[in-house]
Amino acid sequence: MHTTHPPQHIAIIMDGNGRWAKQRHLPRTVGHAKGAGVVHDLVRSCVDLGVPHLTLYAFSTENWQRPSDEVSTLMGLFFQYLEKEMTNMRTEGVRLKVLGDISRFAPELQQRIRDAEADTLNPPNITLNVAANYGGRWDIVQAVQAWQQAHPGADASELTVDNFGQYLSTAGMPDVDLLIRTGGEYRISNFLLWQAAYAELYFTDTLWPDFDTQELQKAVTWFADRDRRFGKLSTR
Ligand code: FPP
Repeated sequence: MHTTHPPQHIAIIMDGNGRWAKQRHLPRTVGHAKGAGVVHDLVRSCVDLGVPHLTLYAFSTENWQRPSDEVSTLMGLFFQYLEKEMTNMRTEGVRLKVLGDISRFAPELQQRIRDAEADTLNPPNITLNVAANYGGRWDIVQAVQAWQQAHPGADASELTVDNFGQYLSTAGMPDVDLLIRTGGEYRISNFLLWQAAYAELYFTDTLWPDFDTQELQKAVTWFADRDRRFGKLSTR
């Protein structure tokens, strides 16, 4: 069911796990578990729709400020996902990449991430970026530092908008076409600040654990009807 012009890169802020649980008088951590459970189907739906890049915001640089049991639940779910999904990812042609500073994670999680990235290098149907300990501002700063390291002694005036992207954590990938945020909030929350400069922004009240293939289809259909001008005049 490929649409004619599917977005080349969808980014999702998966919000509303806590509220989903609260509505059911369950602990927030159950909401996160339910939220992690919908990721696999979503990735498959993106493959079906012909979307080659999907970036999920799993853990922001600000999320460390949550209670420690919630932080460990999120770490645990991420670890389990990587363990459980390895075979699926390989058979379904999913290439995994983690965006973010993983040095603050437990050594076992860091190792699992490195193994999962190394084991899913085949030419993919889709690249699944999981943003973990990620922040858009962090990404811009680390890109400047990476550029400086690649050009010792060079002057910052040599840095250009066109070459900057290759130092970001999303190097080699297209900019975000469609940014989705679930859970009824209207914020970008320090997600892919540079990469989403021209993204179409789609906000829905649906809470993340309820965001299924149909909801994704709705967002992609909405996207197909956008008149993307990139600062120019309409061609319609
Ligand atoms: C926001 O809901 C969600 C998060 C901070 C974490 C998202 C993480 C997952 C879905 C699980 C792990 C990810 C993968 C890729 C396996 P919230 O807690 O802010 O919800 P609320 O606004 O209703 O409180």
